[in-house]
Formats: sequence, structure tokens, C-alpha cells
Amino acid sequence: MVKINRRQFIILGAAGAGAALVGNQLWKRANSSKPLPPSSANISPLHQSKNGLLELDLEARERPVNLGGKQVYLLTYNGQVPAPRLEAKPGDRVRIHFNNNLSQPTNLHYHGLHIPPTGNGDNVFLRINPGEKFNYEFEIAKNQAAGTFWYHPHLHGLVAEQLFGGLAGLFIVRGELDEIPEIKAAQEEFLVLQDFSLDEGGRLLSSMHMSLMMGREGDVITVNGQVNPSFALPEAGLLRLRILNASTSRFYRLSLENHLFYQIATDGNGLNEPIEVRELLLTPGQRADVLVKGDKQPGQYRLLNLPYDRGSMGMMGGGGMMGRNDREVPIVLATVKYESSVESLTLPTKLASISALPEPKTVRSFELNHGMSPAVGMAFLINGEPYRSDRIQTQVQLDTVEDWEITNTGVMDHPFHIHVNSFQVISRNGQPESLPAWRDTVLVPRGETVRIRIPFRDFAGLTVYHCHILDHEDLGMMGNLMIKA
Ligand code: C2O
Ligand code: CU
Ligand code: CU
Repeated sequence: MVKINRRQFIILGAAGAGAALVGNQLWKRANSSKPLPPSSANISPLHQSKNGLLELDLEARERPVNLGGKQVYLLTYNGQVPAPRLEAKPGDRVRIHFNNNLSQPTNLHYHGLHIPPTGNGDNVFLRINPGEKFNYEFEIAKNQAAGTFWYHPHLHGLVAEQLFGGLAGLFIVRGELDEIPEIKAAQEEFLVLQDFSLDEGGRLLSSMHMSLMMGREGDVITVNGQVNPSFALPEAGLLRLRILNASTSRFYRLSLENHLFYQIATDGNGLNEPIEVRELLLTPGQRADVLVKGDKQPGQYRLLNLPYDRGSMGMMGGGGMMGRNDREVPIVLATVKYESSVESLTLPTKLASISALPEPKTVRSFELNHGMSPAVGMAFLINGEPYRSDRIQTQVQLDTVEDWEITNTGVMDHPFHIHVNSFQVISRNGQPESLPAWRDTVLVPRGETVRIRIPFRDFAGLTVYHCHILDHEDLGMMGNLMIKA
């Protein structure tokens, strides 16, 4: 077993326990240290493929929903926050009858899936107006890795606002990883992490009241639309947590009291073997699949979000103006409770086999920063330019491999995401990456350089790469990527 991230475990004494709360009026009661009764953790309806076809109607609409025990008004898919969970297998067809009943245009993006970026596939250039319908249809490739993917709106300029309204759901591909006996025997739970900003009447706060430069964050933090839900950990057994950061800008630095995580997948792809980690940093867009061993004193343990400093706009005074108290105190996200013991389970040993990619033909450089742009004023920039829909910022050749060296010269961290093709991290600040892993989103911390290697396989067409702090994306930190046949 490889051991990384051997940082000192945060010691949460009595002071920590008291401080680990969110000071939110609306949710104060629900967010006491007493967990809510165990929920059926998978509350969102599930749509599974049958006989090789996943077919469903999906309606986007603002609706009243129950969020952490309160009635609020959110943007929903089929009335649910998080949205219904979709599940398919490699080789399946997917047919989604989409209906936009929002007051704004929108579309759908299938984050992390290796499918065509064109036509009625993962086409982020579609604009589906209010009252319009659109049929998405594509095939999950036979060689698609099993994993935790997701779907959300992707109409440039409105992505942050619509995601922050609640529009996000899991898209699970079941496959080989799920057939590994130890993983199959584990108790499986899905955790969709979302944050919200609501007024006293339970209405979404308008973008005007938020720091778009930092990226909007909400003070109501939910797991599967609940505040501090409970999850059962079978004593002597294994709990498999499949975690999605579906927040617009908030980073999560996760830690489970007295327990380690054994990470088995990054984003949508299995690792070679489980990696022991004490804490897990998930940027917006990222997923992690971890096992937890039920080998401690039976009881209740808190899943915490530890403080993380992702930088700030210098001129606004180091975050003071942002009122970001979450930088100082851990927040309780959920509670893990021991339950009736099962026959003792061990960790799996071999998971996937990730092969190294061939040497690249082309090496490109990308510089992330923000600054003034004559056309739009303050903007987020890649190589000094804000996004322009009428330009192709990067053109690559299908069936080639490239290295992209991404340097963050700004004062905030940026999670860099590419559509359609996953990549491997080659080095960070010149230091070779020791963990072989497939990712679709990688953190490029301020002042640092990350080199990634991307194979452009199977699908030609126009798609995008961008910062997954979605306000940054909407404010220009995106590029068009043409994959030429
Ligand atoms: Cu989840 Cu273009 O992103
Ligand atoms: Cu994406
Ligand atoms: Cu960013």
C-alpha cells in the first residue's frame, strides 16, 4: 500500500467540537451536533439502464424543495436537489428527453464522460431556450471506465448561477471496479456536496450579493440536500463513499474523525491500488471514491470539512471582506454511525491498471490569471485572454497525445478541467507525479505549475477546457478546444 498525505491529523479536542458548526440562522437547529435520524441516503430517485438503454424525461424548473428540513425554492431537475441519479453500463445507449422550464436558456453537460462533444452528445454550445425541448442521445463507449460522473448546465455566462441554484446530479457508470468482491461487498453511499445562499424566505440570493471574483460560496452546506445526514458503517465491514463536489466554488477538505480513507478512484477512474489518505481535498468538479474500514470503537464519527485557504483577491484584504469564517473552523458535513457488525471485510488489493501514456508530440503552455480586459473590464484570463466564443483558442489533432503545462500566476487557486478526454498528471512544479491516476479536473494552486498529459481519442469536434470555479469560467477563464479529425 502506498501512503501519501502524511500530514498531521487535525486534532479536534473539545474546542474543535464546539467550533465545528455553521453559524447559519435558518439552519441553526438542524445543524446542532446531534445528527438527524438516518436518512435513506440515496434519496434522489434512481434511473438505471434496462436492456442497454437509459431513457428518461428530464425537466429543469424552479420548484419548492425540502432542503435540510426547510422549504426553499431552488432550480431542480425533475423537482429534486440533488437531481436524479443516472446509472448506465459501458456500451449502453442514453436518451434524455430534456425540457427547459427555467426562465433562462440552459443545456446539459456530462462531466467526465468520454462521449462525442458534438450533435446531441456532450455539446455545450447548444442553447435550449425557456419552454424548449431537446433530445440528448449518445452511447457510453464499451471502453468507458466505471466511475462517478455527473451532469450539470453549461451555458457560458450562466453556469455558476444555475449550478448554484441546485442543478446537478450523479451519472454513474457501473463496470469492472464495481465487480471487485471487496468493493461489491462494501456498503455503498453517494455524497453530493452542494452549498446554497438563501434569504429568510428560502429564495436564492441573486448574484449581485455574492463575490463573483472569489467565486460564490453559500453558508448552507448540504450533503444530498440534507444538513448533517447520517450514514451507516457496518462494524468490521467497509463503507464505500462516492463523493462529488457539486459546489460552484467551494473546496472541501474532508476528514473522518478517527478514520482513514482508502481512496480507490479519482474523478471517474479507478486507481491501481487503494491509497491511504487522512484527508481528501476535493475542488469543484472533482470526485473521489473511498473505502472506510469499520474497525474502530463502534460509535458516531463526524465527517468534517476542514479549513482550506484557496487564496483571495489581494485588494479585498485577505478574505476579511468575504466573511469566510469557514476558513477557521471545521464544519460537520455528515455523521458516520457504526451499525450491526458484518463478516469481517478486508481491503481490495488490485483495482485498475493504469498504463503510462506515450511521449507527447506537442507541449503547450497555459497561464491562468485575472486582470483587466479592454472589452469586458475585470476578467479571468487564460494566456492573457478572456474566453471568446467566436475563436478557437486551442486546436489539437485527434489520435495524438499532448502535454499541457498549466501555470497559475494569480492569487487564487484554479481547478483546471477538460471535457471529453481524461488526462494524467505528469509533474507538479517540476516534481514527477508518483501516483498514476486518471483525472478530468486538477488543482493548479496559486504560484504553481502542473503538467498534464492528454490523449485525444475517438471523438473529433469542438469542446472546451476551463476553471471549474464556475464564476471564473463564466468570467472568461475558458478556452475553445478544437479536436481535428
Ligand atoms: Cu463540470 Cu465544463 O464542467
Ligand atoms: Cu465537464
Ligand atoms: Cu478559477
